[in-house]
Amino acid sequence: MRRAFLVLLVLVLLGAAGFWALTSPGTYDLVRGQNLALTANRAPDLANGRELFYAGGCTSCHAVPGQDDKTRLGGGYALKSPFGTFHVPNISPNKSDGIGAWTPAQFVRAMREGVTPDGQHLYPAFPYTSYQRMKPDDVADMFAFIMTLPAVEGRAKPHELPFPYNIRRGVGLWKLAFLNGKVFESDPAKSASLNRGDYLTNGPGHCAECHSPRNLAGAIVADRRFSGGPDPEGRGTVPNITPDASGIGGWTVDDLTNLLKTGETPNYDTVGGPMGDVVRNTAQLTDEDRAAMAEYLLSLPKRPAYKAP
Ligand code: HEC
Ligand code: HEC
Repeated sequence: MRRAFLVLLVLVLLGAAGFWALTSPGTYDLVRGQNLALTANRAPDLANGRELFYAGGCTSCHAVPGQDDKTRLGGGYALKSPFGTFHVPNISPNKSDGIGAWTPAQFVRAMREGVTPDGQHLYPAFPYTSYQRMKPDDVADMFAFIMTLPAVEGRAKPHELPFPYNIRRGVGLWKLAFLNGKVFESDPAKSASLNRGDYLTNGPGHCAECHSPRNLAGAIVADRRFSGGPDPEGRGTVPNITPDASGIGGWTVDDLTNLLKTGETPNYDTVGGPMGDVVRNTAQLTDEDRAAMAEYLLSLPKRPAYKAP
């Protein structure tokens, strides 16, 4: 009896030690984390940082809700998800409540690996699954741009997540399974604009995060990427944006470029809700970048639209 108890105790301890080791951000670094290095002594390019900031749509989640000035990144938005409600944090340059005391390298680690400066995992509700594709120097430029925005006081409330999702450490296991840590690599066989569109769409733009179905663990189903999916916040269905007849098959590059600038679809409709927020950001991009994203989306393989079960 006593012996059985001891064996059980040892197993539980080994299990706990295994969980602790596997879920350590250090373990993720060893297995996947790479390419974090910033170019030494490089002056940040603020124009590039601004472009990527707007491609990244940070304001959609981090702007203080209900304020006209979307560059006030004080957080507080309650982001609903199938795993509970996240209260989006302050990422303004405020030193105590925001990220004003962070170094560029710490910001790059958060954006590409989902790890905070004090070594905690961030939840993938923050779409670093896409941001991980960004080049570290680009992320550092984005950080420099964010540091030019207003510093906002105040912290968001703690997240409201039921067990087991409230165990932050568990995100380490999720990352080992679903976060590959790969920086975007351009394909020399494709044009510069197609590569740029791929980078913007799959990296900062994180378009697939809403426009794809997910598996039970909340990861995007790879071969159904961009075919639409349930709205992550539970408000209906997000449309197919592959060039299938059930998606944007009849659209031209100009139609799509125009949507990203004005929100107008070719059939005189206007996108709203979460896509309205996306367009508020993409409207700030250069015409070339919008056209590159449009060209990339129209080059995708056709996939039939996701249908709600
Ligand atoms: C879909 C909503 C969403 C978008 C878009 C988004 N974030 Fe976040 N972000 C979150 C959530 C939720 C968290 C909190 C995650 C956690 O607590 O683990 C977060 C956390 C962060 C953190 C960590 C803050 C801290 O104090 O630990 C940083 C930095 C950050 N986001 C930067 C950005 C930047 C920069 C962008 C745009 C490129 C962006 N986020 C876009 C939802 C979002
Ligand atoms: C936060 C979730 C979200 C993100 C991120 C997002 N979208 Fe959307 N998108 C939507 C929703 C919801 C709609 C439907 C809006 C409507 O009908 O009013 C939509 C509509 C669209 C449409 C119109 C499709 C049609 O058939 O009318 C296009 C094109 C589109 N999105 C492209 C993009 C691109 C490109 C990106 C990345 C820059 C992106 N979306 C990012 C949620 C999102």
